[in-house]
Amino acid sequence: KTRVLTGITTTGTPHLGNYVGAIRPAVAASRDANVDAFYFLADYHALIKCDDPARIERSRLEIAATWLAAGLDPERVTFYRQSDIPEIPELTWLLTCVTAKGLMNRSHAYKAAIDANLDAGEDADAGVTMGLFSYPILMAADILMFNAHKVPVGRDQIQHIEMARDIAARFNHLFGNGREFFVLPEAAIEESVATLPGLDGRKMSKSYDNTIPLFDGGAKRMKDTIARIVTDSKLPGEAKDPDSTALTTIYAAFAGADELAAFRAALVDGLGWGEAKKQLFGRIERDVAPMRERYDALIAKPADIEDLLQVGARKARAIAAPALATLREAVGLRKFV
Ligand code: TYM
Repeated sequence: KTRVLTGITTTGTPHLGNYVGAIRPAVAASRDANVDAFYFLADYHALIKCDDPARIERSRLEIAATWLAAGLDPERVTFYRQSDIPEIPELTWLLTCVTAKGLMNRSHAYKAAIDANLDAGEDADAGVTMGLFSYPILMAADILMFNAHKVPVGRDQIQHIEMARDIAARFNHLFGNGREFFVLPEAAIEESVATLPGLDGRKMSKSYDNTIPLFDGGAKRMKDTIARIVTDSKLPGEAKDPDSTALTTIYAAFAGADELAAFRAALVDGLGWGEAKKQLFGRIERDVAPMRERYDALIAKPADIEDLLQVGARKARAIAAPALATLREAVGLRKFV
């Protein structure tokens, strides 16, 4: 069976980018009988960017409810909270000890923080923690712990998965003696939605504050947020360039080829931006409304979600604990029996 694994960092509320880039393809993959799927709430990762415990807890609940509302079947999938698996931080340390600092220096997330500091005239490392610097190693441990073959993600995560491959190959080389401890993982990316733009046309991202929340605030908030997508000043009746705004790309992430062609043609024919936004909202709602109903029911029962996560943690640890015992032995640590 192919192992498929992905996670979402528990800061903030899930947005359309998370849904089309990771959740939707991951749930679809999990329905394949030849797939063994592992989906998790990356709350250790959340600590890197967030020091507000209440926010992490709320986000974890929202992301868990989102996965379930989007159709994840916890019977079929191993669905867990990263911080319930102590083997992951332990593996992170084993991997940290074989990871070149130079590899981490190249991490986009870390470099972006440094560049922003320099642009602001501050010290390059201001506010940069070791957590941010070695973030890709924790992510490698997530993936390698379960020997995932495929990792469904948006394009922004490709570099992290390449780093996980490098780290896996290095570990295999140092300790394998011909044995491959780790599978080399591959990113699984849907080209059409690899980078969903946000309201301003840049990548939809919590850090740019340009997101369209998937469920939070209900249909009204979705509609109001879509109305804020940036467009040019062309009036109803004037021909529009469908590619001048994020509207069309977001529409494409939900529509089939024929629907998309009709939408583009209508814009060229002079459809007003206000009307186009209504159509986009209507198209997204067709998919999201039934999920939102499930979401609202799920989020009202945190104890049920907690029970599911506990079951998931047991399933995940049943795999992680023996795998880690083998790795500990391989590097020369005492073997747990
Ligand atoms: P995170 O929480 O930032 O994003 C979760 C997933 O959503 C995708 N995504 C997007 N896809 C398309 N367009 C967008 N605008 C967009 N914004 C976000 C991301 O690519 C990601 O797939 N480090 C990861 C979480 C993680 C993880 C892992 C993922 C931790 N361990 C192991 C895979 C495997 C992160 O912060 O994603």
